[in-house]
Amino acid sequence: MFITFEGIDGCGKSTQIAVFEAMLKDKGISPVITQEPGGTRIGEAIRKILLDVNNTQLAPLTELFLYEADRAQHVSEVIKPALEAGKWVICDRYYDATTVYQGVVLQGCEGLIEQLNLEACSDITPEVTFLLDCPAEIGLQRIEGRKRDKRGKDRFERKTIDFHTKIRYGYLALASKYRERFTIIDSTLDKEQVARSIEEAVSPYL
Ligand code: TYD
Repeated sequence: MFITFEGIDGCGKSTQIAVFEAMLKDKGISPVITQEPGGTRIGEAIRKILLDVNNTQLAPLTELFLYEADRAQHVSEVIKPALEAGKWVICDRYYDATTVYQGVVLQGCEGLIEQLNLEACSDITPEVTFLLDCPAEIGLQRIEGRKRDKRGKDRFERKTIDFHTKIRYGYLALASKYRERFTIIDSTLDKEQVARSIEEAVSPYL
């Protein structure tokens, strides 16, 4: 079983993935929890380049290739072997993030992005994708609160509200294109309610 979580920065993915993992463990399932970028040792090095605030000169195409390089490594090293072993894999972002984020950064390159996504994922498609949806204002507020006491904001989190709003609507458009795979969750609701909606959506698979 392959499940992905998507949404704008600050939508609450990390919190909900932790709650979801605990729920699955209660039911006797030990999922593989992983993320993009950075789900492998090589991917961690790629993630550092991608999120480093000093890398303002990173060209949009370089950025796209780095996300795809991270994904190719992640699929072959982590996702594919885990699925072949019959495990549940929960991934924090996958190719939908590239379609949406790099789609906004690289206007007009949708065909190239799709082609690279296809190559990198090696035909591995999530069965369920949760889109944790909230307005960009709320996502950014959460990041502000979280980052004040920890590390600073990363390269994407520093982008404008306008950028994050485009990402939000990009995800919603993708979700209506692939209705059979996406479940949209209102992530402005409280943590318990969001967790319940996620649990209900996967109950047929449990
Ligand atoms: P993420 O790990 O979700 O950030 P955090 O752990 O800080 O919440 O994602 C890192 C950033 O990378 C995020 O802003 C979205 C961006 N991203 C892309 O632009 N394209 C991609 O293909 C992926 C996977 C992420």
